[in-house]
Amino acid sequence: MNHRAQYAKIQIMKTLRECIVEAEKKRVAIGHFNISDSEGFWAVVTTARALDVPVIIGVSEGERDFIGVEQVAAMVKSAREKFNPPIYLNADHSYSFERVKEAVDAGFDAVIFDGAKLSIEENIVTTKRCVEYARSVDPKIMVEAELGYIGISSKVLDAIPEGVSLANLTTPEEAKSFVEKTGVDLFAPAVGNIHGMMRGGGEPALHPDLVKEIRKVCRIPLVLHGGSGNSDEDFKKVIAAGISIVHINTELRLAYRNGLRRFLQENPDEIAPYKFMKEGVREMAKVVEHKLKLFNGIL
Ligand code: G3H
Ligand code: ZN
Repeated sequence: MNHRAQYAKIQIMKTLRECIVEAEKKRVAIGHFNISDSEGFWAVVTTARALDVPVIIGVSEGERDFIGVEQVAAMVKSAREKFNPPIYLNADHSYSFERVKEAVDAGFDAVIFDGAKLSIEENIVTTKRCVEYARSVDPKIMVEAELGYIGISSKVLDAIPEGVSLANLTTPEEAKSFVEKTGVDLFAPAVGNIHGMMRGGGEPALHPDLVKEIRKVCRIPLVLHGGSGNSDEDFKKVIAAGISIVHINTELRLAYRNGLRRFLQENPDEIAPYKFMKEGVREMAKVVEHKLKLFNGIL
């Protein structure tokens, strides 16, 4: 197939916005999985393709510094050219306008400006700047912002992150005013979710009633961050209440590390990366498969 024909084929693929509208209609959610390398990329892409569902690949600032900003964009572009699957790329948790701009310029489908730790005024100013820049480059790019602190690390936690409490959940009033003032496409509230997962269980409960109220007044799709550690039942409730995208990272990282560690313990003389890394990929793929089935109502 020549380049022009390939390009035409890529254009047929739905935009992320269209996939989200469809997910809302079906009352399902799109899975967003963070990756750091090509192993994560293949675990997510092959699983989503096998299930024939849309998926978002997320790379935080640290993750995209490791894999390469333009390199990860090229991987997604090449997978689309080859298989035409609905795979989208998101610049997760960008803490400055410059990091948002870099991702927009590299061709990402979505970007997140994370000003959750800033004052609400500062958060609004920079979020608006990100929205304006993304719109000027390509109106199809979706810009997300967050309000309400849910911690910052995708790791195994011994305690709930400091600053996270029921008193700091996002209120519908704050959410409505923030969305109206910034013009974002997607909104990530604090509704009981935390980044990272509690060691040995004990993840805080999610609040579907709050999700419903926020969705009603915001009138834009909602994103649930910090999905690792939450129960399947809680996910079903918040998706039914209006969550359209769910972020998973810690559970994937854990699966990757455990698969690799087990394989190397059992095969200490194995030195071929394509053999020992495979175990990490396999374990990540199991997590992705379960979550995608759950979020898409296949479970
Ligand atoms: O943006 C990334 C996610 O919010 C991941 O959170 O590590 O708790 O799954 P998690
Ligand atoms: Zn997050």
